[in-house]
Amino acid sequence: MTDAIEGAVATERPLVRWGVLSAANIGLKAVIPAIQASRNGRLVALASRDLARAERVALAEPGVRAYASYEALLGDPDIDAVYIPLPNALHAEWAIRAAQAGKHVLCEKPLGMTADEVTRMYAAADQAGVVLMEAFMYRFHPQIRWAQEQIAAGRIGAPRVARASFVFDIRRNPENIRLSGPLAGGSLMDVGCYPLSFCRIVFGAPPLALQSVAARVTVPDGSEVERGTYAILDYGAGRIGMFDSSFELPWGQFAEVVGDKGRLLIPRPFTPGRAETVVRIEVGDEVVERHFDAVDHYQLQVEHFGDCVQSGERPYLTQDDATTQAATIEAVYAAAGYRWPLG
Ligand SMILES: NC(=O)c1ccc[n+]([C@@H]2O[C@H](COP(=O)([O-])OP(=O)(O)OC[C@H]3O[C@@H](n4cnc5c(N)ncnc54)[C@H](OP(=O)(O)O)[C@@H]3O)[C@@H](O)[C@H]2O)c1
Repeated sequence: MTDAIEGAVATERPLVRWGVLSAANIGLKAVIPAIQASRNGRLVALASRDLARAERVALAEPGVRAYASYEALLGDPDIDAVYIPLPNALHAEWAIRAAQAGKHVLCEKPLGMTADEVTRMYAAADQAGVVLMEAFMYRFHPQIRWAQEQIAAGRIGAPRVARASFVFDIRRNPENIRLSGPLAGGSLMDVGCYPLSFCRIVFGAPPLALQSVAARVTVPDGSEVERGTYAILDYGAGRIGMFDSSFELPWGQFAEVVGDKGRLLIPRPFTPGRAETVVRIEVGDEVVERHFDAVDHYQLQVEHFGDCVQSGERPYLTQDDATTQAATIEAVYAAAGYRWPLG
């Protein structure tokens, strides 16, 4: 994370005018506050299938327009960029429609269900000349950037094993979109995508061959989606990634990289929240703990995206990264014998 993020500075450029498609929890809780706090953007409108929900948001955010349909919001000429926190199965359709309406698009992870979808989303964005980025906010946290720098500098030697996990328990919430087949739920799509992404940034490339992935999923009786994914990925030259995700285990997350000289541990790699975080490096008897102040990585993400809209720079999170991520999700599911996409 170098110049692409740091080099773009606040200027006298007009603020990026944001629209949000849906009153999704993640928007209300994290991304709308991030837009409103950002140095280069402001919320202009929100659309919901339920106008009353949109109006409630508008009431809380003075000056914000409420729309009763996503389509109507896309027709608003005062909107430069949209944030899309829709269920996974709707990302491609609405990102493409937004691009065709001339809006820049920040779309929630996972960007598409398949690499083909992601490719079509970027084709639409390129054709319209707009910016598209997968909203993987964890990549904008300074702890991840620092960990990547330490690994690249050889602090733990050559990385050999990346292990990461993100699990939580959703069983008391059967109506959640994450448990819906038609909406493309599943633990890998929802939380496993983080440790999978982490393994790739450690090794700087996709797995050696997508056919070399080994994986298992658990699909309890009556469940529309997998509720647990466990995978081993071969990055070549003895470099292995291992990750798991679950909807049926007590909340937990970690990421660890073992090199041929030492190890690096990130206890809260993906959703550190508004708390201090720490990255620990152990090399022989030497232990270094680097503490990071609380930071809003959603705001850092929004500001970076706004910088790209204003400057025309390419985003830090690239098309190649999003396409590889989606192709690897497909490979993990294929290795586990899980039909994907569910349709
Ligand atoms: N980056 C992160 O930290 C993070 C965290 C959580 C989730 N996410 C991602 O954000 C997306 C949304 O997650 P969420 O937990 O915020 O979801 P959510 O609260 O369930 O919101 C999804 C919204 O989508 C709209 N929608 C449109 N068609 C729908 C349908 N057929 N069924 C249900 N909802 C429909 C609804 O908004 P209206 O009724 O208002 O139109 C609904 O409120 C997912 O892609 C998820 O992976 C990212």
